[in-house]
Order: sequence, then structure tokens, then C-alpha cells
Amino acid sequence: MSEGPARPQIAEGIPNRLYGRRRSHPLRVRQAKLLDETLPRLDLGAGAANPAAAFDAPVDEVWLEVGFGGGEHSEGLLERNPGIGLIASEVFENGLCSLLSRLVPEGQEATAPLPGRLRLWPRDARHLLDQLPEGSLARLYLMFPDPWPKARHEKRRFVNPAIMPLVARVLRPGGEWRVATDDPTYQEWVRQCFGESPLFEQAAFDDTRPADWPATRYEAKAYREGRQPMWWVFRKR
Ligand SMILES: C[S@@+](CC[C@H](N)C(=O)[O-])C[C@H]1O[C@@H](n2cnc3c(N)ncnc32)[C@H](O)[C@@H]1O
Repeated sequence: MSEGPARPQIAEGIPNRLYGRRRSHPLRVRQAKLLDETLPRLDLGAGAANPAAAFDAPVDEVWLEVGFGGGEHSEGLLERNPGIGLIASEVFENGLCSLLSRLVPEGQEATAPLPGRLRLWPRDARHLLDQLPEGSLARLYLMFPDPWPKARHEKRRFVNPAIMPLVARVLRPGGEWRVATDDPTYQEWVRQCFGESPLFEQAAFDDTRPADWPATRYEAKAYREGRQPMWWVFRKR
């Protein structure tokens, strides 16, 4: 795993290392074109300072998905919610390429029209939290985050007492933080962190996926491997 350049600490108790883009094997030609030619056309970049204005047309609400993996959930959110603008964040290049390859036909990486209500943040989403204005998001989705199951790696978990104030700041009052995980350690961690937080209240909990949540690859993997996912909605107080 490569890590990006050192940046100022993002929160008390969180290591000041942020993940840069990650690659598991050399890129194929098509993948390189997607990253070089298509990704910059969707990159939120400095638009983080005013996300509502970063889309092709006005949107009713801005939502953020952290760690979108293959991007199916992000596409599902856009299809089902025609009034939203979505910022989708992922650091793993295979995930970025997977989503981008469904958006543009081969050979048209630099020219094909792109979804006007989607912007990408191809970097550590924790850094985006610093850059978004207060109250600028209506929802944040964290679907099947990396579990970091060892206690000594707790600080790397995205759900984290040090990160919660940063998420609360960027959510509007009543805004939702939606979390799903199949990892028993993380499930207990979610209960503990949100149970102790004065910033959020639990609005819903399910052990079957609610109908308005698109499925994800990791959900399918969890069921295949015999793990029970859980879904929560937490509301900013
Ligand atoms: C276990 S996978 C789940 C992917 C997808 N959400 C799903 O349910 O199929 C977690 C993903 O989060 C990404 N990720 C982890 N930390 C991140 C961060 N701080 N910012 C953006 N993406 C992150 C990883 O690269 C990985 O693709």
C-alpha cells in the first residue's frame, strides 16, 4: 500500500498519513487512459470548497460515498435519486477504473459525455472532510469499510471518535451517516463509537438490507462467506 505525501494532521489521535492512490498491478492501456483522460474530467478537486456548484446543473442535495470499491453502489444511488449530486471517493485504482470503464466506451476516454451529477475524489476521503464547507452534505455512505480488525489499528478505521466531529461538521443538521459492515469487530466498534457520541443519534438499524440501499460487491462476498452484514442510519443531532 503506498501512502501519499505527509500532510497536516487531520484529527487529534489520527496518524497524519493519508492514503494516496493504490495500485495492485501494472495498468493495462485502457486503464491508463481511463485514469489519464477520464478521471481528470470527473475529479472534484478544488470544487470541494463549494460542492453544490461542482455539478453540471443545480442539485437538491450533495451526498458522499467513501470507499466505493467497484462503484456499483454509487451508480445505484445516482439512478434512484435524480435530485442528488454524488461525490464518490476511492483510492484503489482498480476500483476507479472499474467505475470509469462502465461510464465511457473504449476509445472515447477523453470525449464521451460523463454523468453530470457525479464527481470523484480519487484520494483519501478523510482529507476531503477538511476541505468541504460546514453543513455541505446531506448524507455520507460508508459501505463495508476496511475492517482493520486488530486493536492496534483502531485509529485507521474510518468510523473513529477522532473522525466523527469532522463528519458531523460537514453534514447539515439532520444529515445522515449511513454505515454497513459484515465484520463482527467493526459492528461492535460502530455500536461503541456511535453509542458514546453526542453528535449522532441512531435513526435505523437492520440486519437485512433496506430496499433503498443499493447492493455492493462486499455485501455479496459477505453472504458467500457466511458473514451477517448490518446496516445503520445515524442522524446528526
Ligand atoms: C472493503 S472495500 C468495500 C468496497 C465497497 N464499498 C463495497 O461495499 O463493495 C473498502 C474500500 O474503501 C477504500 N478506502 C479505504 N479507505 C479509504 C479512504 N480513507 N478514502 C477513500 N477510500 C478508502 C478501499 O480502497 C476499498 O476499495
